[in-house]
Amino acid sequence: MFRYVGIFLYFYCSVALSEPPYSGGETTVFNTSVNAFSMPAKNLSLIRREGFFIGNAFFKNPWVTAPASTAARDGLGPLFNTNACQSCHVKDGRGRPPLDDENMISMLVRISIDVPHAKQYLQQLTENGLIAEPVYGGQIQNRAIRGVKPEAEVTLEWLESEFKFPDGAVVKLRKPEVVFSDLAYGELDENTVVSARVAPAMIGMGLLEAIPESTLKQFVTTQKQSKSGVSGKLNYVWDRRLQKKMPGRFGWKAAMPNVKQQVASAFSGDIGITSNLFPESSCTSKQVKCLSAPSGGEPELTNEILDFVTFYSKSLAVPARRNMDDASVQRGEEIFAEINCNSCHVETMLTGADKEFPEYSQQEIHPYTDLLLHDMGEGLADGMSEFEAQGTEWRTPPLWGIGLLQTVNEHTNLLHDGRARNIEEAILWHQGEALNSRNAYAKLSYEDRQKLLDFINSL
Ligand code: HEC
Ligand code: HEC
Repeated sequence: MFRYVGIFLYFYCSVALSEPPYSGGETTVFNTSVNAFSMPAKNLSLIRREGFFIGNAFFKNPWVTAPASTAARDGLGPLFNTNACQSCHVKDGRGRPPLDDENMISMLVRISIDVPHAKQYLQQLTENGLIAEPVYGGQIQNRAIRGVKPEAEVTLEWLESEFKFPDGAVVKLRKPEVVFSDLAYGELDENTVVSARVAPAMIGMGLLEAIPESTLKQFVTTQKQSKSGVSGKLNYVWDRRLQKKMPGRFGWKAAMPNVKQQVASAFSGDIGITSNLFPESSCTSKQVKCLSAPSGGEPELTNEILDFVTFYSKSLAVPARRNMDDASVQRGEEIFAEINCNSCHVETMLTGADKEFPEYSQQEIHPYTDLLLHDMGEGLADGMSEFEAQGTEWRTPPLWGIGLLQTVNEHTNLLHDGRARNIEEAILWHQGEALNSRNAYAKLSYEDRQKLLDFINSL
């Protein structure tokens, strides 16, 4: 009897690490609690975990106005959205649009101007991929320190529409329109383009950074050759450290080449904390009181703290899949492939070698993304371009962990602006390159649609 159990265990363990429950390879954690997105990578050594916890403190705790006795964490603002990373990436998870009577907290609004290419904008286009609004900058900061006016009040109005399934079922959809009031520094430029974005979940970032560029290029080729209408492309974005263009991987339009630059840009744009990588303050030259407010140092963020927060951001583990023995989940997985969802939400790939992060190297992972930009049609378009990404284009978001969103964040709002209230609404917004998949989903029987949703909820 014991021998059989032993044989069973032997087979079980020998296949386990490469099987899909281990979405993040050896970094995968088995945690289905409210803290499911907050765990360090499983294979991070005890010593390396110290850095994780130091980074966590700077991610969680609020920054304060300068000058302050806690010099390490002063320099908030003058303009900012909120005073801690955690306020947007709630429990290391995802933000959401405000409810009717709430302020906008866990999402932000980017702005840029859309003008014909002109010589004076070349540097901005090369380094930022867009042209910032001349007075307000690249993002509306709806809060400010005392003595400085916040840029504006931001609210959303919802435009409702209906989707009718061939079988007669009807689903209500909603799309946000951004409304600015109390614009403190005058009217916005008439060519202003607006993009509302929720904070994405923080899991698996080190693994996504470790996927070789050659793998991403292979996805481009495979999609082109498939002639299925799905044809993604890499964003090529400015790497501030290397001073050259690199593949974009992070942000809803893949405008950031690596986690460190994304983190430094969040410190500068969202919290108003300058660093060597992002020395620019949150004030533009037209915001005079903002410019004369006291600073928390030059720069406000030390390289050391930036490194800790980057290490933390790269090390949050992906939770394992659940309910994989469920027949409905198994059939849903087949349907996911049959209707070509997996052409963009690619299941399996290998990470490359990274000497600094052996934990994320050579891992077989199941992120359900190709990290490529896709034209998703006018319904989802924000009209904003960032580097190579056009107004209709978005990066395929990873789907790992998506079924735990309700547990961690107590909502299931999806897509770049959180408009979808659940997975089905998110699918129904897919158009452009994904229109065939969306239509194939709509043609499924009610039962098969539920199976597909069960599968996605098991990720
Ligand atoms: C005001 C809300 C807000 C705050 C505060 C904030 N973020 Fe974000 N974060 C976002 C949004 C929105 C995005 C997507 C950005 C985009 O698409 O341009 C994002 C993206 C990211 C990403 C990339 C995620 C991905 O899936 O590509 C990382 C990493 C990140 N933030 C880390 C941080 C860190 C570290 C801090 C604190 C220094 C921070 N963020 C503060 C809203 C916020
Ligand atoms: C052409 C590429 C493509 C195909 C095919 C595709 N998707 Fe997507 N998917 C995307 C992109 C890009 C987004 C992000 C769009 C946005 O936020 O505006 C997305 C978003 C999602 C989201 C929300 C994720 C999040 O983090 O908010 C879900 C769920 C999803 N897709 C499921 C599916 C399913 C199921 C199918 C098959 C019916 C499918 N997708 C087919 C590219 C694709």
